Amino acid sequence: MQLTNEPGLAGIPQGPRPRPPPTWAIKLVLALRGFLLRLADALAPPHIRVVEHATGLARTAAIAELARRGYAEVLDAGPLTAAEIATHTGRTPDATFRFLHALAALGFVRMTHDGRFATNSTLRALRTDHPNRARAFAEYFASRSNVEAWLDLGRTLDTGKNAFERVHGKNIWDYFEEHPNERDNFAAAMTGMTLDLAPFVASTYPFDEVLTVCDVGGGHGALLSEVLLRHPALRGILADNASVLDAARALLAHRGVAHRVRLEPSSFFTSVPEGADLYMLKNILHDWDDVACRAILANVRRATRPGQRVLIIEGFIDRRRPDPLRSPSDMQMMLVCAEGRERGIDELRALVRDSGFQPGRAFDLGIFGLLEGVAT
Ligand SMILES: C[S@@+](CC[C@H](N)C(=O)[O-])C[C@H]1O[C@@H](n2cnc3c(N)ncnc32)[C@H](O)[C@@H]1O
Repeated sequence: MQLTNEPGLAGIPQGPRPRPPPTWAIKLVLALRGFLLRLADALAPPHIRVVEHATGLARTAAIAELARRGYAEVLDAGPLTAAEIATHTGRTPDATFRFLHALAALGFVRMTHDGRFATNSTLRALRTDHPNRARAFAEYFASRSNVEAWLDLGRTLDTGKNAFERVHGKNIWDYFEEHPNERDNFAAAMTGMTLDLAPFVASTYPFDEVLTVCDVGGGHGALLSEVLLRHPALRGILADNASVLDAARALLAHRGVAHRVRLEPSSFFTSVPEGADLYMLKNILHDWDDVACRAILANVRRATRPGQRVLIIEGFIDRRRPDPLRSPSDMQMMLVCAEGRERGIDELRALVRDSGFQPGRAFDLGIFGLLEGVAT
């Protein structure tokens, strides 16, 4: 699949994002939504539920095509007939009608009484300039490299080994180095997701207790920039692969914090930059197995002095309770990342402890959590 051009900074907010809702409200909404989804499922006969869920691949492909062909922008002008839409998107009117008819049934577009198609809030989330970059995520998930890994799920169940490396001959990060379009698209998707979560981190953790914060594997700097915007006295270090940091410069400049950030191209398997008193790892450990996690954390420990800190930021899974967010993500980590996994807070505490940190404060924010470790 050909990817949309990287969206650059379109729609990325310059100032700090709004204060997030309280954790109890998030948990309540998640619980209510889970209940309603289960209820909707229970209303269908079991074999219909099976058939509906089994067509997930069709949805993945259709949503990505909706994103890639820019229907969100085309329909911004107002409701259009399939024939009118087809002149913009290069499709035949019949195929366009049938495609949008199906997507209207899924709630991705609205069909009017006179048979035209109109935008809605879900479709607008696929605009190139939507700050949360759902479009990039849709394209990532439907990318050939990801889908081919998923089609090899059976051998992962047999061997416990990740499919991505078996299918593509290298791990996903090395693959991205050779496929810069896919790398940039994935980084854009992460930036969008992280912009959503960053205000929770920036307003929960007591950043006023530190002077310099390093984001290890910090991507384009979405989290670091939010933390710096909300804490004007802080300075930052952004560490990631060199090719990823090239694009980070623009985002940090756009958000007005570039002069407060040192960029450190580096592999966290070799070293982590010195000079910070807090090291954030957001959605890093879940990409790797325990051995790799200990190697990363050991490098963070080497960069720190006693009393300095690491802050793990990712979803805490509870293995006793299937979770509509964490459990599918755990499977994605197993399949695509190097035997990565979502972990429970006690598993993360053990990793932190094994690596020379005393587990400290923990914050459960509903959709994800923060765990501090203090270097001993
Ligand atoms: C899942 S993304 C998380 C990005 C960012 N922390 C966030 O949450 O938005 C994983 C990040 O790890 C980076 N990464 C992968 N291997 C790395 C390595 N050996 N050294 C440094 N960064 C690496 C990737 O480039 C990517 O930015």
